[in-house]
Amino acid sequence: MGAKLSEDARKKIIEALNEDRVAELTAIIQYMGHHYEGEGLESPPILELFKSTAMDEMRHAESLAERIVYLGGVPVYKPSGVSRGGELREMISQDLGLENGAIERYRKHIKLCDELGDSTTRLLLEQILMQEEGHADAFETALGRGK
Ligand SMILES: [Fe+2]
Ligand SMILES: [Fe+2]
Repeated sequence: MGAKLSEDARKKIIEALNEDRVAELTAIIQYMGHHYEGEGLESPPILELFKSTAMDEMRHAESLAERIVYLGGVPVYKPSGVSRGGELREMISQDLGLENGAIERYRKHIKLCDELGDSTTRLLLEQILMQEEGHADAFETALGRGK
């Protein structure tokens, strides 16, 4: 496994993937929280968007964990810095903030994988990044700031 990757490269990639995983776990808790807390507010489609996005993030957190284990690391299990509700627009803004952070971080980590020669992890992160861009787009549209 990872025969062509040096010990140092594997450690760096595991660390990067765990950083991504913390953010995914945070997003899951935050979006599901918004899904429940938004109950009774005026916009059911947005509540569904919180839920379906949280489910995408669950798949991301799982894929990251699988890759971390494959590389010989231990996946982290704790979220960090979950933002709680307020009114609906505030929730969407908080979530858009996480997505923009994710996009920036995945771009950085794709570059790292490139430098370290791990094309498999790079491909995984590219697939996740594509979905994060879709999430950011959906939250922007929900805020009425569509491009
Ligand atoms: Fe994600
Ligand atoms: Fe996302």
